[in-house]
Amino acid sequence: MKYIIFNWKSYLNLKETLSLSKIISNLPKSKKYKILSSPNNFFHLTIRKLFPKNITATQNIDLHGLGANTGSLDVSYLTESKIKYSILGHSEVRANFNDNDLIVKDKLKHCLSNNIVPIVCIGETKDIYKSKKTREFLKLQIHKIFSMSTQYQEVILAYEPLWSIGTGLTPKIDEIDEICSYLSMILKNYSFKKINILYGGSVNLTNISDILNLRNVNGVLVGSASTKSEFIKYFK
Ligand code: PGA
Repeated sequence: MKYIIFNWKSYLNLKETLSLSKIISNLPKSKKYKILSSPNNFFHLTIRKLFPKNITATQNIDLHGLGANTGSLDVSYLTESKIKYSILGHSEVRANFNDNDLIVKDKLKHCLSNNIVPIVCIGETKDIYKSKKTREFLKLQIHKIFSMSTQYQEVILAYEPLWSIGTGLTPKIDEIDEICSYLSMILKNYSFKKINILYGGSVNLTNISDILNLRNVNGVLVGSASTKSEFIKYFK
């Protein structure tokens, strides 16, 4: 079973969101794919009401807690709304809201203590990639986010090279497999009840089947391509 996560970011309005959600709800039940969508926060409850079987993930959570915290999104609201997944540390959240690995570590704790499955995003810059320091960088990033003494429940790790997001560029197919295999080796030093490693960054109709065929890749996190109905219909 491979995870297919549609990250709709802030691309879609309500009508577009519901129209794609309807296509998802009509996909035949599959043993090959587990499909999640990550819509704008405003739209989760409408999706749940109209398409109760669709699974959604928030694009972020917040650390301030309940109380006098205007503008926050506490993790308990996800639980109350029966949302079971949240993306954490996406590169755009890191860039726009100053998230860093320490904050992601705290958000991870919040998710796990509220039974939310975190989809933790990591990835290197173009410079790091070019200087062949990707592995070292990712190892350190994992070290900053996860602790070897914690027993984690289910976690999804998304390897998203920053230079690949929204650019049409991806590492070579073999490289994606090698990096994901390396990540799974590193993650053996930590303890997870369930861990899946996904690839994200310029996944589209042209490269999806090659990426999903990779042994060490347990799924994909897809941004702009997933806002097109043809892409969603690929999973029929
Ligand atoms: P992209 O985005 O598919 O548009 O490159 C991926 C992501 O940001 O998760």
